[in-house]
Amino acid sequence: MTIKHFLQFSDFSLAEFEHVIERVRIIKHKFKNYEPYHPLMDRTLVMVFEKSSTRTRLSFEAGMQQLGGAAIYLNTRDSQLGRGEPVEDAAQVMSRMCDIIMIRTFGQDIIDRFAKNSRVPVINGLTNEHHPCQVLADIFTYIEHRGSIGGKTVAWIGDANNMLYSWLQAAEVFGFHVNVSTPKGYDIDRNLVSASNTRYTLFGNPSDACEDAHLVTTDVWTSMGFEAENAARLQAFDGWIVDAAKMRRAKPDALFMHCLPAHRGEEVAAEVIDGPQSVVWDEAENRLHVQKALLEYLVLGKV
Ligand code: CP
Ligand code: NVA
Repeated sequence: MTIKHFLQFSDFSLAEFEHVIERVRIIKHKFKNYEPYHPLMDRTLVMVFEKSSTRTRLSFEAGMQQLGGAAIYLNTRDSQLGRGEPVEDAAQVMSRMCDIIMIRTFGQDIIDRFAKNSRVPVINGLTNEHHPCQVLADIFTYIEHRGSIGGKTVAWIGDANNMLYSWLQAAEVFGFHVNVSTPKGYDIDRNLVSASNTRYTLFGNPSDACEDAHLVTTDVWTSMGFEAENAARLQAFDGWIVDAAKMRRAKPDALFMHCLPAHRGEEVAAEVIDGPQSVVWDEAENRLHVQKALLEYLVLGKV
């Protein structure tokens, strides 16, 4: 039997996302109304973190508890993973003791190898190349505020990182367009974008990329694991801040998103992230609801 994983955004079809999004609405409504919903009673989620986290840990752990199950947290420092146990062996062992696994790690190859040796579904909680749970939460947030994202324009201002690659995959699935502006030397790695993806346009000037966008989004200039490049990046990204002037180039009702954590005064101006177009707290909250629906779907299938 093939096991369904969520290792990158393109692992699900549009029909699967439509099912999950419908379930998010129902599960969120139950949560807001204090209505108990325990479909994952006696099920266990193992969460493996090789990088820091606030939102991802909290949303998966709280979400699993709210679904009636249990969540166990492991990190590299305190587990044998940090002492060189092969990822294949770790997958064999962990997946015999739980029903689903979430991993935050470095290279995508690590989570791919883990999934190949796992008896249970594996969810990507962020790798260097992808952050599909965050982009799913962002798309749900867009739909809540503005309706369908199909045919819309998303402006990506910043680093070609895990968030961008997940946005580009999502654009193919949901049929929207991404205007991408990355500084010179920090451009898209074509090996990480499918050759058939026509859903994006590159812009040298970040302000031009914002023109008529329905959504403007950015992320930290230095992702986890790239800290040694921080000083060089601060220089290279000069001019890539999302400020009020750039937001004025977008549609008047454009939304601003950031997966968080954010650095005010670097990638985003305080007036934007704390301003009326920003939906960053909704994005963060929606991680909880989206991942509960994802856990339900991967463990139980379509309910
Ligand atoms: N956005 C996000 O994944 O946040 P954490 O790093 O806090 O999990
Ligand atoms: N691109 C960022 C996202 C953090 C949630 C990183 O990988 O550090």
